[in-house]
Amino acid sequence: MTQRTCQAIILAAGQGTRMKSSKPKVLHQVAHLPMVSHVAKAALESGCQKLSLVVGPDMEEVLQAVQAIHKNVQSHQQIERLGTAHAVLAAQDDLRVPMDDVIVLYGDTPLIQEQTITQMRDALAKGADIAVLGFRTDNPAPYGRLLEENGQLVAIREAKDASEDEKKINFCNAGIMAFAGKSMLDLLQKIDNKNAQQEYYLTDAVELANQAGLSVVALEADEAEVQGVNSRQELASVEATFQSHARLKAMTEGATLSDPQTVYFAHDTQIGRDVLIEQNVVFGPGVQVADNATIRAFSHLEGARVASYCVIGPYARLRPGAFIEEKAKIGNFCEVKKAVVDKGAKVNHLSYIGDAHVGEKANIGAGTITCNYDGFNKFKTEIGAGAFIGSNSALVAPVIIEEGAIVGAGSVITKTAKANSLTLTRAKQMSLANWAANFREKNSKS
Ligand code: UD1
Ligand code: MG
Repeated sequence: MTQRTCQAIILAAGQGTRMKSSKPKVLHQVAHLPMVSHVAKAALESGCQKLSLVVGPDMEEVLQAVQAIHKNVQSHQQIERLGTAHAVLAAQDDLRVPMDDVIVLYGDTPLIQEQTITQMRDALAKGADIAVLGFRTDNPAPYGRLLEENGQLVAIREAKDASEDEKKINFCNAGIMAFAGKSMLDLLQKIDNKNAQQEYYLTDAVELANQAGLSVVALEADEAEVQGVNSRQELASVEATFQSHARLKAMTEGATLSDPQTVYFAHDTQIGRDVLIEQNVVFGPGVQVADNATIRAFSHLEGARVASYCVIGPYARLRPGAFIEEKAKIGNFCEVKKAVVDKGAKVNHLSYIGDAHVGEKANIGAGTITCNYDGFNKFKTEIGAGAFIGSNSALVAPVIIEEGAIVGAGSVITKTAKANSLTLTRAKQMSLANWAANFREKNSKS
């Protein structure tokens, strides 16, 4: 069988007034990725080669968010919002030489899964001219109802146009529709706005297709998968659904989550097998955790890579560019940014390691700070393999601590600490015998 070609049209012209936001609704993020980018990702994973985006005026950033996912994006402006068919027709230039399958998606429905789009494409491959995605709900009130007869979808009735009997139907239109490219534009151009809202309804394509003797089927998805976001409350509810799926996925793939409800993943978090994630751990974007690593309670990781058998936390913060190599340890109240911590090195207590390289098996004492910033520029600290940095030391970058060097506790190091030597910068200790006793006596008399 030859592969069918596929394109997607993502509708994103709505400003989303109920979000009460200065940015377009579809740019609000779920698991640290804009909603519209989630949708684009699902479309691409299901085999779409080309994306068309319908946006409102001044929505350049929406295009940029989708371009970050895929280069082949055509953006179209819909100036007046006259309905979903009108919105799709804003992209009609992209339909003149259509691909085999055309999928219409909403930019504010971010949890749509690649598998669901693939099922809709399969329906087209089996001969359907339109496949509509439906869902069953206890609250059908605002949605278009799917009217079926003998397995054929005969019409979609918008809530505002529905009869009392039709309103009782709880099988609703999710809004996601797949069209055979060859008949799509003809159907869309026949849609008028003679309805309660005087809008051009994309859903009217179903009745028109029936009149033309074409085949239309409805598929069913889970209500949570097709939840649209119109408010901050709905955004939170979609985020919660994403998180519960991500937790299940991590566990299914072999990670232990001590208290799953308290672990938060980003859209792209990668967790290996036999990883232990304790309570209250937050993953920002761009984190990879390899097999057998442990992330202890209350840690926050972002843009970081953690290799096998590392122990991170409790209360650790890994910021972008923190690359922690095998068996290394980053302990409580340590922050690591843009630094490679080599195999078996330990940064166990109260440290800041930024713009640095920590060599194999080096030991960074409690309270060590790499002073990487002078208010204008950042500088690098190089710590050699096996070096030992005594507690409460400040390493003023740019600076090199050579292999096997020991830095005495409380030092401020501004010049190279030579290999295998002891380097310390400390005022000499002195002691005045009986001074304390005399002092107390003098003060107690007055
Ligand atoms: C639409 C469907 C309805 C379905 C519901 C699911 C139609 C006529 N109705 O209704 O059957 O149950 O979605 O949520 O299609 N948009 C534009 N330009 C427009 C109009 C809409 O870009 O002119 C975009 C919106 O930004 C949104 C999507 O299309 O992402 C859906 O629009 P919306 O107004 O929410 O449609 P509903 O009336 O909810
Ligand atoms: Mg809606």
